[in-house]
Amino acid sequence: MDYLGINKNQSVNTVKELNQLLANYQVYYQNLRNFHWNVSGEHFFDLHAQFEGLYTDARAKIDAIAERILTLRYRPMSNLASYLREAQIEEAGKVSDDREMVRIILENHRELIERMRSTLIVAEEVKDEGTIDMIAGYLSDLEKRSWMLDAWYAQKSERIMA
Ligand SMILES: [Fe+2]
Repeated sequence: MDYLGINKNQSVNTVKELNQLLANYQVYYQNLRNFHWNVSGEHFFDLHAQFEGLYTDARAKIDAIAERILTLRYRPMSNLASYLREAQIEEAGKVSDDREMVRIILENHRELIERMRSTLIVAEEVKDEGTIDMIAGYLSDLEKRSWMLDAWYAQKSERIMA
């Protein structure tokens, strides 16, 4: 039954973008787990908890993105090899410096934000308000989380003076 009122062919580009976003989110998710486990030093308690908060949020969004693809009557990318092949975000290796971890996560966020913006452009072309509503919410949420991480990351000299 056509429960969407959107022609399946019209959703092809949106689904391509959503699958790209999904692949990037999966690699980002694993980067967060890596850093949650391996962070050490004076900021351990802060960052261990922060990374957990971020990956818990990412886990819910990964599921919702995959299920949005299914709602549009397509198949979500579902295996790790495809995620690693398709994602722009790279899997982090051994990182021991906590500032480097935060810098990598901020870079990952920038990539996710870019993917979200391109998803919105194609979804707008076919007036897919369901996808637009979902992704626009994720976008502003990630922007806010990035601001907070960046505030933690900023050197004294970079801070905005009142
Ligand atoms: Fe844990």
